[in-house]
Amino acid sequence: MQIDKNIKVLVCDDDETLCYLLKEQLLEEGFFVDAVYDGKYAIENLRKKNYDVLLLDMQMKEVSGEEVLKFAKDYDPSLSVIIMSALSETRTAIEMIKMGAYDFISKPYDFEDLLLTITRAVDLKRLVVENKILNNKVTKKIPTKIVGESSELQRTLNLSLKAAASESNVLIEGETGTGKELFAEYIHRHSLRKDKPFVIINCASLPDQLIESELFGYEKGAFTDAKATKQGLVEIADGGALFLDEIGEMSLSLQPKLLRFLENGEYRRIGGVTTLNSNVRVIGATNKNLLEEAEKKNFRRDLLFRLNIITIRIPSLRDRRSDVIRLANYFLEDKSPVRSPKKLSAEAENALLDYSFPGNVRELEHVIERAIIFAEGDVIEPDDLNLPSVFTDIHSSYPEQEKNNYSGLVKMADVEKEHILKMLIKNDWNREKTATELDVCQKTLYSKIKKYNLKKND
Ligand SMILES: Nc1ncnc2c1ncn2[C@@H]1O[C@H](COP(=O)(O)OP(=O)(O)OP(=O)(O)O)[C@@H](O)[C@H]1O
Ligand SMILES: [Mg+2]
Repeated sequence: MQIDKNIKVLVCDDDETLCYLLKEQLLEEGFFVDAVYDGKYAIENLRKKNYDVLLLDMQMKEVSGEEVLKFAKDYDPSLSVIIMSALSETRTAIEMIKMGAYDFISKPYDFEDLLLTITRAVDLKRLVVENKILNNKVTKKIPTKIVGESSELQRTLNLSLKAAASESNVLIEGETGTGKELFAEYIHRHSLRKDKPFVIINCASLPDQLIESELFGYEKGAFTDAKATKQGLVEIADGGALFLDEIGEMSLSLQPKLLRFLENGEYRRIGGVTTLNSNVRVIGATNKNLLEEAEKKNFRRDLLFRLNIITIRIPSLRDRRSDVIRLANYFLEDKSPVRSPKKLSAEAENALLDYSFPGNVRELEHVIERAIIFAEGDVIEPDDLNLPSVFTDIHSSYPEQEKNNYSGLVKMADVEKEHILKMLIKNDWNREKTATELDVCQKTLYSKIKKYNLKKND
């Protein structure tokens, strides 16, 4: 069997001998392999590195296979998880497949079988990822209106129009959910390139090699799966714009190739010998501070300076509270299944104004969508908004003058982190229970755990 040399496997089993053996066998086949002995270390590793396949035992001392699977599916839905189970556990293994595992193999395992399962799992992952990219190549979708009258938003719109009129690359900064993608599209739609493609790639959702092959394409035979030549996105975007979402996540090894492309429009397909050329405006977006990342040597300074010819910072919703109600009414109208949309009561408006919206406009959009479904009458009351109490409580426990200043926010984040950690410890890290008690969905809890990098032994 021919093995793709780039497959990264994480083995997690509390049987150390088995782990060691399996690791040796897989290394010999040419895989990259890490092995850990408990679910908690598996989660740690998954946070740190990108894997293609996770071989997962079910019974472990501290954190079970089931918990790891739940985490993995939430954290990286395209990761293929193969369950390793004793024969007596077949029924549970089937349950795990229902939860999103790719397949299971029985212990003691047959190595050839295992290899086959891994290869199939990786093929599937590729398909999923490629589909995602295809679906992502949005060139024509009905553009969303940018709503907001606050001076902060108007300033941002003006700057975007100026950026649109120029040919320069643009860097869009802003917290999650502030509208970075929306503004990137807006800039493209108002530019001279508007009739040419607007191609999107998310640098955080794909493994490194795939980003490179997506961006620059490959020649037939460049690697095992390269059965035909493939055009890169920079080629597809020729004359138009390329939106590099979450550009702060791009690996240091890929950055020089992007830099070269930004300098003179030149690139090579993977495995290619000819230098090609494409004329693309690059719009990058990030929720990181790239200057700080450059100081820390996580991002190349020269690349940053090529990108941030124009920097547009999208204000958070907290910094333009006067837009909250306007946006809420816009979503009420936009998402309403009937002609006459529901209305917000004065108390509901106040609850929205009091809330800190860590997820910004996207969060507000979801809050309203949910409220439309849950409100029984024509008027939406605070309860229908179902705002996470942990955040409102923390928020409203700060004096008025602190609500709008930055140090207040920093403190808020600290308090939130402490509170979540306390609840997790109290519930012995049972996320389901903790999420219920915090009155947030599990996904929100997971993203908070990730954001604050909370670990079991903190
Ligand atoms: N000013 C606005 N008016 C109307 N809708 C908005 C506005 N800002 C954001 N939205 C909506 O909020 C949602 C999130 O916006 P978008 O995806 O552009 O944010 P983002 O900053 O790219 O988020 P992330 O960092 O999570 O990728 C989208 O559905 C978008 O249409
Ligand atoms: Mg985005």
